[in-house]
Amino acid sequence: MTLLIERETTAVRLNNDRLCDCPPNHINCMTAKEWIKSQLGVWQFYYESRDIRDKNAHPATFPIALAARCISLFSHEGELVLDPFVGSGTTLVAAKDLNRNAIGFDLKQEYVDLCRQRLDDLPELADTTQAAFSADARTIQEYLEPETVSLILTSPPYANLLNRPRLNKSRRGAARKNEQYLKTEQYSQDTRDLGTLDLDDYQEAMAEIYGRLFPVLKERGHCVIDVPDMWLDNRRITIHTAVVEALRSVGYELRNTIIWDRTNIVNRVGIFGWPSNYITMGTTFEYLLDFWKP
Ligand SMILES: C[S@@+](CC[C@H](N)C(=O)[O-])C[C@H]1O[C@@H](n2cnc3c(N)ncnc32)[C@H](O)[C@@H]1O
Repeated sequence: MTLLIERETTAVRLNNDRLCDCPPNHINCMTAKEWIKSQLGVWQFYYESRDIRDKNAHPATFPIALAARCISLFSHEGELVLDPFVGSGTTLVAAKDLNRNAIGFDLKQEYVDLCRQRLDDLPELADTTQAAFSADARTIQEYLEPETVSLILTSPPYANLLNRPRLNKSRRGAARKNEQYLKTEQYSQDTRDLGTLDLDDYQEAMAEIYGRLFPVLKERGHCVIDVPDMWLDNRRITIHTAVVEALRSVGYELRNTIIWDRTNIVNRVGIFGWPSNYITMGTTFEYLLDFWKP
């Protein structure tokens, strides 16, 4: 099937037919050996030189390797991957590497431009297309046909938990006043930005967005959402619970919870809470919530 996406002044033709010759009942193109590696419940990744680590370019990117693992696990070559909060475009970069068609949306034009630049820097593959557009995730369903997407993969905003000056409480001494100190690492103050919403409104917005995306996902298509929990005023804010409840309320089924163990990429941390209060930093892991359309 060919989908025609018309946005801004351009029209993009996206295919979603499999380009592999895997048997029809296989959920991906992985070999048994690759499959076994993905069976672990705790995953670790390294950033590579193509990853965006400059927080001025984008404050919250996940590694290309993380997107690549999810795409390899839940799609075949040629199939269509959607990222509704595409940010710097990491999902689309991994999709291009893996010869998947992919489409991403972000509210902020600046991030869409960065994403397009990253895609342009990669070698051209004739078989598949990856495209990014600036739009509110609440409108994406207007551009996609029903049952065309094999995987929805994203890291959404973390409600309004980053929308405040950063105090670096987990760092000690001089390391606390690094270049992020007192900076607000927020994408925008646009009222449509999910990063401006308190947790209840955020849960409602996630239900609205994913409810609208439900028809475009194929039956048994997976939907992976990367979120952490966070501390605010000495209370644990369970963003992952809000996301699970939001998606269940609109028909998705939670299949797996995978822990993205970030200890190998977090450095120079302080002794958080010592000696009076046991508080883990909350920066050392994130949840990869894997849902599907039953
Ligand atoms: C955590 S970031 C995604 C980062 C991405 N995974 C990467 O590696 O670059 C979340 C993104 O959601 C975008 N966003 C927030 N509200 C949105 C909305 N209503 N519609 C579309 N994008 C939105 C923000 O601009 C931000 O870039």
